[in-house]
Amino acid sequence: MAKTYRIASIPGDGIGREVIPVGQRAIEAVAARHGFGVAWTEFDWSCERYAETGRMMPEDGVAQVKGHDAIYLGAVGYPGVADHVSLWGLLIPLRRELDLYANVRPVRLLRGVTSPLAGRGPEDIDFVVVRENVEGEYSEIGGRLYHGTDQETASQLSVFTRRGTDRIMDYAFELAKTRRGKVASATKSNGIVHTMPFWDERFAAAQARHPEVTGAQFHIDILTAHFVLHPDWFDVVVGSNLFGDILSDLGPAVAGSIGIAPAANLNPERMFPSLFEPVHGSAPDIAGQGIANPVAAVWTAAMMLDHLGEAEAARALIAAVETSLERPETRTRDLGGTADTLSAAAAILEAVG
Ligand code: NAI
Ligand code: MG
Repeated sequence: MAKTYRIASIPGDGIGREVIPVGQRAIEAVAARHGFGVAWTEFDWSCERYAETGRMMPEDGVAQVKGHDAIYLGAVGYPGVADHVSLWGLLIPLRRELDLYANVRPVRLLRGVTSPLAGRGPEDIDFVVVRENVEGEYSEIGGRLYHGTDQETASQLSVFTRRGTDRIMDYAFELAKTRRGKVASATKSNGIVHTMPFWDERFAAAQARHPEVTGAQFHIDILTAHFVLHPDWFDVVVGSNLFGDILSDLGPAVAGSIGIAPAANLNPERMFPSLFEPVHGSAPDIAGQGIANPVAAVWTAAMMLDHLGEAEAARALIAAVETSLERPETRTRDLGGTADTLSAAAAILEAVG
């Protein structure tokens, strides 16, 4: 009997609903050829559901997805529902309750894509941003005082634990051993005087545990400049929740478009299903127009297959994406092409065979 993976799909809002079906079709196309099956459970969790029920997902939402092998998510967020409500009502509880502490975001200049950086080719841009995904700056500790007065005050506490910091750094160093053996840490220990010196200390301790990897650290401000000026310096970049978030939009921009950027939210110990989602959001500005780039969703699907142990099928999907990007007629507009979502999708499926 061929293995059948149980995958929870949450298309979400906006272009999530346009690109997730493309990723599902792409997975089904390679599944047939690589001898496995997929059983989908679809969840309508979204801002639309929030408008109807007052919740992004049911109270037992996390329990409903827990029994699956993986979760495939589009994006959540839509005008009319505050962004912190949609994010904290769905994605953040999933990340935390499933302990998806490693957010892994590859940045690669794919064949057929032109970087906005002059003179850069595929050999220059190939790195992975590893973002700490469950603590750090994204914490609900804090509050507001004196609402609406001229003494109005807001404060928010960042949380960095030794366990949380060490495990994300170990993940980054281990990943570097499978690549070019370099890890860069994003810090800001000059300006942020408690948490970031601690982050640096834990980075030094991780370096000592992994002497065969070459570590370096950069303050986040100059690191953003280096991403633009010297993308070829980077192999694995490890950052806190906030810094990793920012770097993983900047990275794909230098590699052509946010429309191609994939992400995995991993529980590396596999205690819980991992969650796979494109880096991009719901893109309300283009939603419903049928022009969203489906590549991020398909590349994300490839990361999911790789995590499930279907490395060959994953490689086949990425190769199909690269073939589809070679011609402007099968690339979407964000990559200077003329294709809409469906014709770009058709080209990917055709390349899968
Ligand atoms: P966004 O990623 O949705 O859009 C940024 C820009 O990139 C827009 O101009 C959009 O048209 C373009 N873009 C994004 N994906 C594209 C694609 N596949 N093809 C072509 N163009 C693409 O980020 P934004 O505008 O900051 O957020 C929009 C909504 O999405 C907000 O409600 C936000 O909270 C939510 N969001 C959700 C995320 C998630 O669920 N993981 C992640 C980021 C944002
Ligand atoms: Mg982001």
